[in-house]
Amino acid sequence: MSLHLRLAQPADAADLLAWRNDPKTRALSRQPEEISWEDHCRWLDRMIADPGCLFLVAWLDGTRVGVVRFNRRGQADVWEVSITVAPVAQGRGLGRRILNEGVARLRRDHPGAEVLAAVRPGNLASERLFLGAGFRPTQSDEAFAHFVLGA
Ligand SMILES: CC(C)(COP(=O)(O)OP(=O)(O)OC[C@H]1O[C@@H](n2cnc3c(N)ncnc32)[C@H](O)[C@@H]1OP(=O)(O)O)[C@@H](O)C(=O)NCCC(=O)NCCS
Repeated sequence: MSLHLRLAQPADAADLLAWRNDPKTRALSRQPEEISWEDHCRWLDRMIADPGCLFLVAWLDGTRVGVVRFNRRGQADVWEVSITVAPVAQGRGLGRRILNEGVARLRRDHPGAEVLAAVRPGNLASERLFLGAGFRPTQSDEAFAHFVLGA
């Protein structure tokens, strides 16, 4: 099965919002409240236009199956990653493939990029995903465990 990562577009909005508002995903998000369609579309347009954001949608056999987004933090070549797999497609290894391909794509344009990830305590799938992709744990606080992937 071939997985393709494509730059996010406004037409991706409905699937992205459905995944974002899934109760399990919300519980693990930085902002757990449900997001409205209008706010979501405004946010998506802003992200797509932002040169400090690499926003990729993963497609498998003509269907959207996940999303990975990298946001630049400050002036240095440091990017924070956010990843979601469609709830129906989770637990089948897609998260790993999407993360690896996303990092490879980021490093095509930014070979020295360092990638940060913040994971809610108890989000075992996410923790294992990042550790398995070579991220190493840095500091943790009550709200998040932090991981970094060096250049
Ligand atoms: C986190 C997430 C992206 C992982 O994607 P996925 O496709 O479900 O994960 P994979 O199938 O690629 O598995 C990745 C690792 O997680 C483990 N895993 C998957 N589901 C798991 C679960 N429910 N509980 C514990 N571990 C789990 C896998 O065993 C694998 O680890 P291993 O290689 O050490 O065995 C996905 O579950 C998701 O979208 N969650 C909601 C949003 C979220 O939490 N995003 C991360 C915040 S940055």
